[in-house]
Amino acid sequence: MDSDSIQGPLLEKFHRDLARIHSLLGSFPTIERFLRRNETPVKSVLDIGCGGGDLLSYLRRRMNVEVMGIDLKPGFTQDVPVIQADATCELLPKADVAISSLVAHHLTPEQNIALIRNVGRSCKRFLILDLIRHPMPLTLFSIFLCPLIGREAGADGRQSVRRAFTPEEFAEMVKEALQGTAGSFAIDVPPLLSRQIIDIRYGTAQS
Ligand SMILES: C[S@@+](CC[C@H](N)C(=O)[O-])C[C@H]1O[C@@H](n2cnc3c(N)ncnc32)[C@H](O)[C@@H]1O
Repeated sequence: MDSDSIQGPLLEKFHRDLARIHSLLGSFPTIERFLRRNETPVKSVLDIGCGGGDLLSYLRRRMNVEVMGIDLKPGFTQDVPVIQADATCELLPKADVAISSLVAHHLTPEQNIALIRNVGRSCKRFLILDLIRHPMPLTLFSIFLCPLIGREAGADGRQSVRRAFTPEEFAEMVKEALQGTAGSFAIDVPPLLSRQIIDIRYGTAQS
């Protein structure tokens, strides 16, 4: 889906397939649960690499938060505002919490480090949801999810698991990004390794 040739209806189909995968995995309620565990009630959310905007629509409906999407290649989004930007280096709008779902494995370690630092200039907390590179989620995805989604989405999903970072690799990237700051983080991994959530708190705003 990173290819420039994926545009228009094909891009829309990718985002629809992703929304279906999220619904099967229950990712949106999981992110909502993390957002509700905030020191103060969350009023605004920035979605980095928001794709079709389904997560933001869900959060606005469920939590009545202000939403804003950022995407390098915005596609068709129902009714959420989206700014076209490279979130690794361009100044982002301010929000209470930034989230990012299934984006990290599209970026290099250096880009992820740059992204984490850049988000810290605009938000106090950053929740990153991504896949885990491991044989177990690859097998479970192939057996249980592939039959329920399209052939392209199945192949794309398998490739994404293979490209994903392990929690240990992610921890190294976050440590490097937060080095010399008051920031801290935790990584949540469920028993079946279906996803990881990296929960970053910046302490004070980065410059
Ligand atoms: C696999 S899609 C995930 C979409 C959505 N977050 C989801 O979970 O369904 C990855 C998205 O990240 C966007 N993206 C990749 N690199 C980016 C960057 N540097 N800045 C902003 N968006 C980026 C892509 O354009 C794409 O829409």
